[in-house]
Amino acid sequence: MKPSVPNSSLTIDLAERSYDILIGPDLLLDASCFDRLGAVTGAVIVTNTTVGPLYAKRLEQTLRQCFSHTQLIELPDGEVYKDWNTLNLIFDGLLGTGADRKCMLFALGGGVIGDMTGFAAACYMRGVPYVQVPTTLLAQVDSSVGGKTAINHPLGKNMIGAFYQPQRVVADISTLSTLPERELKAGLAEVIKYGPIYDTRFLSWIDQHLNDLLALDPAAITHAIRRSCEIKAEVVAQDERESGLRAILNFGHTFGHAIEAGAGYGVWLHGEAVACGMVMAADLSCRMGLLDSADAQYLQSIIERAGLPTKAPALGLSRYMELMQVDKKTEGGVIRFVLLNGLGTAVIQSAPHDLVAEVLHAHQGI
Ligand code: NAD
Ligand code: GLY
Repeated sequence: MKPSVPNSSLTIDLAERSYDILIGPDLLLDASCFDRLGAVTGAVIVTNTTVGPLYAKRLEQTLRQCFSHTQLIELPDGEVYKDWNTLNLIFDGLLGTGADRKCMLFALGGGVIGDMTGFAAACYMRGVPYVQVPTTLLAQVDSSVGGKTAINHPLGKNMIGAFYQPQRVVADISTLSTLPERELKAGLAEVIKYGPIYDTRFLSWIDQHLNDLLALDPAAITHAIRRSCEIKAEVVAQDERESGLRAILNFGHTFGHAIEAGAGYGVWLHGEAVACGMVMAADLSCRMGLLDSADAQYLQSIIERAGLPTKAPALGLSRYMELMQVDKKTEGGVIRFVLLNGLGTAVIQSAPHDLVAEVLHAHQGI
């Protein structure tokens, strides 16, 4: 098959840590997407047992055109494996073949592989370069961009990690053709997220093109990934290490992480939990007098039409409060939420306990 030229690219501007995001079809076959990555002795593909059989050979053949040798590390698949034991499998693989500090890791997979590979790259020999090759919509619009890397701890999601930027992001939209529909919808949740926090025009565009996105129309998918990455790049360029603004990208995540952890990792997909969390955070914004209920309803209707859940599991108030305390935005025991101050603008604030309790009561699907 003839390699295609990347049809969309943008740069995330972080001074000496700046890098390009390439978006388009069949990029895994295009060696020009993987050249000019600096002096590298070997390319190490880190993937999992689902994505590896589908795409690792394709990527390996392309990387052989750019690097003297390649290695493949295949991890078990699933959010439940985003832990120390699986991270160690990466180090076992690297040390077992004598990979030196001039090797480069290639994270081929969804957000779980991207987050773990990025963290492994940050730690191995005190830091080796890595490239994100995201193969889920969620990873292409969010997790592969911005340098947040992490593993989960039984007491909290993404609690152990580092800020460590990749050298490049190569988002091949052709890989989305094998993505299960449930995963595609979960990725749409993170696309939708950028509208209410930053860009109401983008939210209207999503509203109008939801069916095209669900049908994987290449032009619609490329636009959605590009606009999502542009917004994320603008936010991260202003606040790389989340001392303030970047936290708006966690809209829906305070409730969402509690749902994910409370239900048991892997039961709810991350994007599903974020979708439900956005509905809850919008409701909290209304109860705090920041958002019109018609706007909250509009957001909820898009989330519902995307086939995403809007009712949280019935874990009870005290369990939710306990789980939300572990959120990284919590300061001095006070939980801080990303709220909507009108559609298109996000603010980070604490909220009165009784209003949070009302939201939790209203949205638990019992
Ligand atoms: P995932 O990585 O678990 O992938 C979802 C499933 O799809 C997996 O079973 C995977 O093997 C499979 N898969 C991946 N690509 C495929 C393809 N092309 N064809 C067929 N199957 C494919 O989940 P995800 O939704 O991509 O990522 C969720 C993770 O990302 C969570 O751990 C979350 O915390 C993290 N995340 C991180 C950031 C960040 O900024 N670093 C942002 C958002 C989410
Ligand atoms: N997904 C949130 C962030 O990258 O900051």
